[in-house]
Amino acid sequence: MNKKIKIAFFDAKDYDKNSFMEANAGDEFEITFFETRLTPDTVQLAKGCDVVCVFVNDDINEAVIEALSFMNVSLVALRCAGYNNVDIENAYGIVHIVRVPAYSPYAVAEHAMALLLTSVRRIHKAYIRTKDFNFSLNGLTGFDLHGKTIGVIGTGKIGRILIDICRGFGMNIIAYDKFPAADSGINYVELGELFEKSDIISLHCPLTDENRHMINRETIGMMKKGVVIINTSRGALIDSEALIEGIKDRKVGAACLDVYEEESNVFFHDYSGHIVDDDTLARLISMPNVIVSSHQAFLTREALKNIADTTLSNIREFFENGVCPNEVCYKCASVSACDQKHTKKCF
Ligand code: NAI
Repeated sequence: MNKKIKIAFFDAKDYDKNSFMEANAGDEFEITFFETRLTPDTVQLAKGCDVVCVFVNDDINEAVIEALSFMNVSLVALRCAGYNNVDIENAYGIVHIVRVPAYSPYAVAEHAMALLLTSVRRIHKAYIRTKDFNFSLNGLTGFDLHGKTIGVIGTGKIGRILIDICRGFGMNIIAYDKFPAADSGINYVELGELFEKSDIISLHCPLTDENRHMINRETIGMMKKGVVIINTSRGALIDSEALIEGIKDRKVGAACLDVYEEESNVFFHDYSGHIVDDDTLARLISMPNVIVSSHQAFLTREALKNIADTTLSNIREFFENGVCPNEVCYKCASVSACDQKHTKKCF
């Protein structure tokens, strides 16, 4: 009988445990769940395991990679799409990285629209008022989405679904992508033009060194007064201090944030009853026109099932066939692309 593959599962939440236990109902894998995140201080928990399974705020830095290599852990299985939390250049040649490239782009695109509708129709205010039997409408005036221009940055899986949703609302859609899709029927414009013309801007591109803080003082300065900014992508795409200034100057009309640049210190944890040290986050949350959800855009039943099924399938393929179509390396991530083109391991 083949030896069971041992998985050290970091940053495990109840919903992760449920979906992975269901996907592993036949006990094919031996999974040990750890509530702690993967860091240089916790990496030793993976001793004796073949794989570490991690999420968006686990830090797979040089020290972690070195320790994994020392313990003969040959695979990092990300249960998310983005891999900006992995030092992929240092991982190359040492540990392989697999991810879940798409689990439910609908979940994220629909959440972006949910945040937008909540914000522009003041549902977050109305909900609290009517709970307190306050039926006044003062201050709840919104605006129609019909006829407004949305600028979508990043027209991959999620961006395109949002575009389709917005078409249903009768919105004008303009888009920017570093690699525009040919024959897509999408109206691509330069980034500057998108900033200048959009009533609403929604971010759907990955975070890279190049686009960190793409929403900053200068680019906010280019935007229309009253612009609504939606970020369900990665927090550091927005300079939070510049966003606060933009809101205080009444330039930014509203912000809908599912991600935040310093989220790893707070998101996914219950800090009710505690004093949160992050003054920037506290300031944002205090603003009536800012809605924060804690990186929950992916959180649907369908997405959790896909994440668990694809992660376990990635691990199975890697160890049984030695090839995994969902492997990524720093070459895959660059324009030149990885030579192996997913027909072999990246190295
Ligand atoms: P995707 O890979 O299908 O599409 C990304 C698009 O961004 C591509 O068309 C690419 O050409 C474009 N792009 C790359 N660099 C760019 C740049 N500098 N400027 C403009 N466009 C650029 O990715 P997908 O599945 O649509 O996901 C988008 C992002 O959503 C992910 O990178 C991730 O950060 C975020 N995400 C957030 C989740 C959440 O729960 N909040 C869940 C899943 C993904």
